[in-house]
Amino acid sequence: MTFLAWKSEYSVGIDSVDHEHREMIELVNALYDEMKNRRDRGSIEQFLGDIHATISAHFALEERVMKQAAYDQYEPHKDDHEELLDQIRELMDVYADDPDNGLPLLQERLSDWFANHFSSFDSRLHGKLDIPHH
Ligand SMILES: [Fe+2]
Ligand SMILES: [Fe+2]
Repeated sequence: MTFLAWKSEYSVGIDSVDHEHREMIELVNALYDEMKNRRDRGSIEQFLGDIHATISAHFALEERVMKQAAYDQYEPHKDDHEELLDQIRELMDVYADDPDNGLPLLQERLSDWFANHFSSFDSRLHGKLDIPHH
């Protein structure tokens, strides 16, 4: 079973943005599979670092556009991005400490974030501003 399934309510109505969001979900799904199948610890740690970097780049772009446009919801939107990045960093620490604790933490925290952020913060943002994709 796939860990995070794409749902129509995640769509912000712009193909290029939805595509990037789907890619983020795919990365988290691949991480889930790797942890579940107890893949090599070093490669999972590396993968966690890559996911953090990819997601940070996506957020940085949105934040830059929001800031330039003096977007009214900049602060809460950025706070919600920080929340996920903190969770990924925490997952990295917890995993490094004891890999057995990685999967439960991933299951417990991350799925809610994706469900909420795309369908609330991001749909509002993309309805108002044009974010170039990378
Ligand atoms: Fe986004
Ligand atoms: Fe966002």
